[in-house]
Amino acid sequence: MNVQVTLPVALEKARRAAGLFLIGGIFLFCTNGSAAKPAEEAKPAGPATYVGSEACAACHDDLFKAFARNPHQVVEKVKARGWQGKACESCHGPGSKHAESVSPDDIINPAKLDAAKADRACLKCHLNQPSQANRILSVHARNDVSCVSCHTMHKHGPGGGEPGLAPRKAAVINQQCASCHSPVWAEFQRPHRHKLNENAMSCVDCHNPHGSFLPKLQKTASANEASCLKCHGDKRGPFVFEHAPVRLEGCKTCHEPHGSANPKMLTRHEVRFQCLECHANVGAAAARSGTLGGVPPAIHDLRSPRFRNCTVCHMKVHGSQVNRALLR
Ligand code: HEC
Ligand code: HEC
Ligand code: HEC
Ligand code: HEC
Ligand code: HEC
Ligand code: HEC
Ligand code: HEC
Ligand code: HEC
Ligand code: HEC
Ligand code: HEC
Repeated sequence: MNVQVTLPVALEKARRAAGLFLIGGIFLFCTNGSAAKPAEEAKPAGPATYVGSEACAACHDDLFKAFARNPHQVVEKVKARGWQGKACESCHGPGSKHAESVSPDDIINPAKLDAAKADRACLKCHLNQPSQANRILSVHARNDVSCVSCHTMHKHGPGGGEPGLAPRKAAVINQQCASCHSPVWAEFQRPHRHKLNENAMSCVDCHNPHGSFLPKLQKTASANEASCLKCHGDKRGPFVFEHAPVRLEGCKTCHEPHGSANPKMLTRHEVRFQCLECHANVGAAAARSGTLGGVPPAIHDLRSPRFRNCTVCHMKVHGSQVNRALLR
C-alpha cells in the first residue's frame, strides 16, 4: 500500500524539483549574461560557497588528520569523483559561512538531520551500489534508522580498527544490531542456534541491513535465493525428487533461523510433529480439508515407536536424487 501511495508523490516531487531546476537554470543564465563580474567580488550575504578541506583543517586539525585514514580520502584525492580538495564539504555542504562565523547553525551535521535527509546526503554517492538495492523501501529507512545510526564517520581506530566507518568484525556488528533488536538476541541464547554468541557468524550473514527484495531484509545468495544456501549449498539441489516445502516455502517452514529449543533448530520439539503438520495420518477427511503433503501409506503404524522417527527412514528430507519417498 505504501508503495502505491508514495510513488506518485515521489514522482510529483521529482517533477516539481525538475521544474525549479529549470527556472533556476534560466535565472542563472540571465544574470550571467548581464552582470557577471561584480557579483563575484562582493558576496557578503549570499549563499555559502565551497572553501576546500584545507580551510577546515585550520580549526578541525584532529579530524582533518584522521580523515587521511578514512576510506573517503579517495573523494579528497581523486579528481573523477568531483570533490577533489573539498571532501569535507561533500557531506557537510559549502562551508564558507561557517568558517567565518564558527556557528554550528551555518554547517550541515548529518547526525542532526532527520533520517531521510541524512540518507539522501550519503546516497548521492552510494545509491548505485548493489548492497544498497531497495534501500528506500527498506524497513530501516521507513523507521528512520539512517546511515549515521550505524556508521560513525570520524572514529577510526589505529590501522582501521573498530569502530571504523563500516563495522566489519562479527562481534561489533552483532553488538550493534542487538542494541536495537534485543528480543532477537535473546533468541540466540537458546540451546540450538548458529554461533553468533561466539562471534563465528553475524546478523549480516543472513540480513542486508540496507535493504533487500526478500522479506525481512533477508540477504540474497545467488540470484534471489535466501542466504541460507550460501553456506548450506547441499540443500539447494536441484534434486530429482524435491520435497516441495523446501523449495517453495523456504527453510523457515521447519527451522527457526534465530535459534530454537529443539534439536536442529526445528519449529517442533519432535520430528514427527514437524512432518505430521502437513502429512497428517488422520484419514481422508483431513486430507481433503487442507492437508498439504500426502498421507503416509498404511504401512505406517504411528502407534508403534518404530514409525515415529520419520527421518530415520526418510533421511533425505531436503530432497533426494534417487528415491521418490526421500528414503535415501
Ligand atoms: C575558524 C575555525 C573553524 C573553521 C575554519 C571551521 N570550523 Fe567547523 N567548527 C568550529 C567550531 C568552533 C565548532 C564548534 C561549534 C559549537 O559547537 O558551538 C565547529 C563545528 C563544526 C561542526 C559541528 C556542527 C554541529 O552541528 O555540531 C561541523 C560539522 C563542522 N564544524 C565542519 C566544518 C567544516 C566542514 C569546515 C570546513 C569547510 C569547518 N568546520 C571549518 C570552527 C571552525
Ligand atoms: C562521508 C561524509 C563525511 C565526510 C567526507 C566528512 N564528514 Fe564530518 N561528519 C560526518 C558525519 C555523518 C558526522 C556526524 C558524526 C558521525 O557520524 O561521526 C560528522 C561530524 C563532523 C563534525 C562534528 C564533530 C563530531 O565529531 O561529531 C565535524 C567538526 C566534522 N564532521 C568535520 C569534518 C571535516 C573537517 C571533514 C574533512 C576532513 C569531514 N568532517 C568530512 C560526515 C562526514
Ligand atoms: C562524495 C561522495 C560520497 C559521499 C557524499 C559519501 N560517500 Fe561513502 N564512500 C564514497 C567513496 C568514493 C567510498 C570508497 C569506495 C571504495 O572504496 O570503492 C566510500 C566508502 C564508504 C564506506 C565503506 C567503507 C569500507 O570500509 O568499505 C561506507 C560505510 C560509507 N562510504 C558510508 C557513507 C555514509 C554513511 C555517508 C553519508 C554520511 C557517505 N558514505 C557519503 C563516496 C561518498
Ligand atoms: C542498520 C545498520 C545500518 C544502516 C542503517 C546502514 N548501514 Fe551500511 N553497513 C552496515 C553494516 C553492518 C555493514 C557491514 C556489512 C558487511 O560487512 O557485510 C555496512 C556496510 C556498508 C558499506 C560497505 C560496503 C558494503 O556494501 O558492504 C557501505 C558503503 C555502506 N554500508 C553504506 C551505507 C549507507 C550509504 C547507508 C545509508 C543509506 C547505510 N550504509 C546504512 C550497517 C548499516
Ligand atoms: C541464520 C540466518 C539468520 C541470522 C544469523 C539472523 N537472522 Fe534474523 N531472520 C532470519 C530469517 C530467515 C528471518 C525471516 C523469518 C520470517 O520470515 O519470519 C529473520 C527475521 C528477522 C527479523 C524480523 C522479526 C522476526 O523476528 O521475525 C529481525 C528483526 C531480525 N531477523 C533481526 C536479526 C538480528 C538483529 C540478527 C543478529 C543478532 C539476526 N536477525 C540474525 C535469518 C537470520
Ligand atoms: C538504531 C536502531 C537499529 C539498529 C542499530 C538496527 N536496527 Fe533493525 N530495525 C530497527 C527498527 C526500528 C526496525 C523496524 C521495527 C521492527 O521491526 O522492529 C528494524 C527492523 C529490522 C528487521 C525486520 C525487517 C522486517 O521487514 O520486519 C530486520 C531483519 C533488521 N531490522 C535487521 C537488523 C540488522 C541485521 C541490524 C544490524 C546490522 C539492525 N537491524 C540494526 C532498528 C534498528
Ligand atoms: C554463514 C554461513 C551460514 C549461513 C548463512 C546459514 N548457516 Fe546454518 N549453519 C552454519 C554452520 C557453520 C552450522 C553448523 C555449526 C554450528 O553448530 O553452528 C549451521 C547449522 C545449521 C543447522 C543445524 C543446527 C543443529 O543444531 O545441528 C540448521 C538447521 C541450519 N544451520 C539452518 C540454517 C538456515 C535455515 C539458514 C538461513 C536462514 C542458515 N542455516 C544460514 C552456517 C550457516
Ligand atoms: C520440511 C521441513 C524442512 C524444511 C523445509 C527444511 N528442513 Fe532442514 N531439516 C529438517 C529436519 C526434519 C531436519 C533434521 C533431520 C534429522 O532428524 O536428522 C533438518 C536438518 C537440517 C540441517 C542439519 C542436518 C543436515 O542435514 O545438515 C541443516 C543444516 C538444515 N536442515 C538446513 C536446511 C536449510 C538450509 C533449509 C532451506 C533450504 C531447510 N533445512 C529446510 C526439515 C526441514
Ligand atoms: C510444510 C508442509 C510439509 C512438511 C512440514 C513436511 N512435508 Fe513432506 N511433503 C509436503 C508436500 C506438499 C509434499 C509433496 C506432495 C505431493 O507432491 O503430492 C511432500 C512430500 C513428501 C514425501 C514424498 C511423498 C510424495 O508424495 O512425493 C515424503 C516422503 C515426505 N514429504 C516426508 C516428509 C517428512 C519425513 C517430513 C518431516 C521431516 C515432512 N515431509 C514434512 C509438505 C510437507
Ligand atoms: C521404518 C521406516 C519409516 C519410517 C520411520 C517412516 N516412514 Fe514414511 N515411508 C517409508 C517407506 C518404506 C515408504 C515408501 C512406501 C511405498 O513406496 O509405498 C514411505 C512412504 C511415505 C510417504 C509417501 C511417499 C510416497 O512416495 O508417496 C509419506 C508421505 C511418508 N512416508 C511420511 C512419513 C512420516 C510423516 C513419517 C513419520 C511420522 C514416516 N513416513 C516414517 C518408511 C518409513
